[in-house]
Amino acid sequence: MATALKFTRPESQAASFVSRTHKMLINGKWTDAASGKTFPTYNPATGEVLSNIAEGDREDIDRAVRAARAAFETGPWSRMTASERGRLVWKLADLLEEHLEEFAELESLDNGKPLTVARAADVPLAVELFRYMAGWSTKLEGNTIPLSVPYTPGAKYLAYTLREPVGVVGQIIPWNFPLLMAAWKLGPALATGNTIVLKPAEQTPLSALRLGELIQEAGIPDGVVNIVPGYGETAGAALSAHPDVDKVAFTGSTEVGKLILQAAAGNLKKVSLELGGKSPNVVFADVDLDAAIAGAASAIFFNHGQCCCAGSRLYVEEQIFDRVVEGVSERAKKINVGPGLDPATDMGPLVSADQLNRVCGYLEAGFSEGAKATAGGERFGDKGYFVKPTVLVNTNEKMKVVQEEIFGPVVTAIPFRDADMLVGQANDSAYGLAAGIWTRDIKKAHRLASQLRAGTVWINCYNIFDAALPFGGYKQSGWGREMGHEVLEQYTEVKAVCAAL
Ligand code: NAI
Ligand code: MG
Repeated sequence: MATALKFTRPESQAASFVSRTHKMLINGKWTDAASGKTFPTYNPATGEVLSNIAEGDREDIDRAVRAARAAFETGPWSRMTASERGRLVWKLADLLEEHLEEFAELESLDNGKPLTVARAADVPLAVELFRYMAGWSTKLEGNTIPLSVPYTPGAKYLAYTLREPVGVVGQIIPWNFPLLMAAWKLGPALATGNTIVLKPAEQTPLSALRLGELIQEAGIPDGVVNIVPGYGETAGAALSAHPDVDKVAFTGSTEVGKLILQAAAGNLKKVSLELGGKSPNVVFADVDLDAAIAGAASAIFFNHGQCCCAGSRLYVEEQIFDRVVEGVSERAKKINVGPGLDPATDMGPLVSADQLNRVCGYLEAGFSEGAKATAGGERFGDKGYFVKPTVLVNTNEKMKVVQEEIFGPVVTAIPFRDADMLVGQANDSAYGLAAGIWTRDIKKAHRLASQLRAGTVWINCYNIFDAALPFGGYKQSGWGREMGHEVLEQYTEVKAVCAAL
């Protein structure tokens, strides 16, 4: 394994930020936890502590919610024009872009992902998201509605709708794309005029905290965005149960999504959920074989398989099954696994020791049920949280490795004979987040796209994201959509106004 350590790059821009002790952002002030406690965040390439962070809990969440409520009700934010709001969000995008390299380093250090990937994908996508949402702030329109009220014959009315912010929004995000998930949540909430309490994942709080500094620099008023790092069972649970939070938006496991829903029931806060997946990626025999093999490999190995939409169930038409498995396995073996900051690295470590154990546990379960690895199948090295890119064959729909989300670089390959039966196999999942189709036959592709129960279907491509393209899940993959204009519905209320003329 390469041995690039923390800050071997002389021009490192993240070093001074990382080496500080970090506070939480409440009402525009960087403050310690009420308890005085801190928690560590680790470098997953080495297992060493990177920084210590103020550990938010119920009392900090309560303070943050009070700040967000005041900013929503009476602060300058509530009096701003839509254009002013949009300009602030745009300014935030500009600042983020100026600090692209620093954010890419922070993501690589805290999450483990290759610097090259964070630089090309995570940070630019976050910048684009803020810009796209900034543009919406001036375009949130209602309607005028002709009324025909039967019990007031002859009466005339002027009726219209207004689109208003929901209020104080709690946002709980995961560790797989720490900055990008913060952007997906903050962008639409800000553009629509809400105020926010954001809880980053305990594994990866750094980029959200640095973003908090840019939020201040952009001139977004105090209390509009509050950032409270801490653990899920404490800070996260307090935020989702808080009686003065109007909406909670969550990305993470389906298991925790259900807990959030229960916590939200207390005051019936609005809930949007972006949860797990076990996405089928279907390769037909008529395909451009090289493109399909490359696509199938990147569908699962991008971000080390720590993607809710990872193409983790590979279905291949039987005539080409062996060739595709061989091709994907060859690619898996060539992936250079190492620390994210090493320029030669294609795949970094998993995010945490927990995640390493979870993924290795799935591999053992697969082998004990008869699966075989044609590539990988084990941990890589003995330091840091690396797993070898893995292809499993001899698998079927009854196995745990085919049913459950592994969230690691592990794909199960299954042959299929008949396109109609394939639909049943592909849809045989509690999840419905994404799917991939590889074929030269456009009719076949679009027919299957309509039959798959998934929020996103990629045809002859995979993992293509855009701020304008809605993303979210069918079935137990979630409620609501992120991005696109669809997300604006999740952050606004519609008010019907009816005036007698
Ligand atoms: P998680 O769902 O526990 O964590 C996601 C976020 O939820 C974190 O900010 C965490 O602090 C918070 N959280 C945890 N428990 C909470 C609670 N009771 N109330 C409120 N917030 C809470 O995910 P975890 O444990 O890190 O990963 C476990 C599995 O979840 C992964 O192996 C993967 O299968 C799935 N996952 C899916 C993600 C997605 O993008 N859909 C992202 C992260 C994990
Ligand atoms: Mg958890």
